[in-house]
Amino acid sequence: MIVTIDGPAGAGKSNAARMLAASLGFDFLDTGAMYRAVTLAGLRAQCDLHDEAALTRLLAAIRLDMPPNRVLLNNEDITSLIRTTEVTAASGAVASSRAVRTKLVEWQRAIAKDRNFVCEGRDQGTIVFPDALCKFFLFADPQERARRRHRELSARGETITCAEILQAQDERDARDAARDIAPMVPAADAIRLDSTLLALDDVVARMEHEVRRRMQSIGRDGSPS
Ligand code: DC
Repeated sequence: MIVTIDGPAGAGKSNAARMLAASLGFDFLDTGAMYRAVTLAGLRAQCDLHDEAALTRLLAAIRLDMPPNRVLLNNEDITSLIRTTEVTAASGAVASSRAVRTKLVEWQRAIAKDRNFVCEGRDQGTIVFPDALCKFFLFADPQERARRRHRELSARGETITCAEILQAQDERDARDAARDIAPMVPAADAIRLDSTLLALDDVVARMEHEVRRRMQSIGRDGSPS
């Protein structure tokens, strides 16, 4: 069984997906971390991130593993290294590459094969898992998303203003939504949730209720543990 959570950065997808997976006893896959890992590999290799041939060569040379809550690039733990503003800024180009998307979609399906997963990203319900049991599109007011990101980065000691975050976020949203390949749009059958005024617990409770209802309707045990 697959549950997908798509939506823009800062809407609370990662935390919601992690908590929902824990309550359901599912595994959790952060697909943005995979795009970030390829971006870090590209930056390190001084690869032109707009060059499809260069990215294809890069993909053939790397191995990505996604154990719970960690990201391994060629066996090196890069979990915290992929969260810098440099990687965030460069990830848009990598996420627009057809070669990268094709390969990562293949890896994501292989990781989730025959298992129960909550997968979060931009294209999980539309492209990667069109037959998912339950799809959510989680969004929030841009200002509120920027404030949340600012709190997160400040806690990590990064000095960046909320206005700078908002501007970069607007650019990224526009690019994610407008790109030719796998644009960030809600799946037609996705449940849309606005997290602007909802606490994370409430978001997760609503999601869990809906997933369990669907599990019961297909004869899987959807009772809360
Ligand atoms: O969610 P995030 O900020 O960690 O995502 C990093 C980048 O990858 C961002 O540019 C959006 C992109 N992305 C994507 O295009 N498709 C996904 N399924 C997940 C992330």
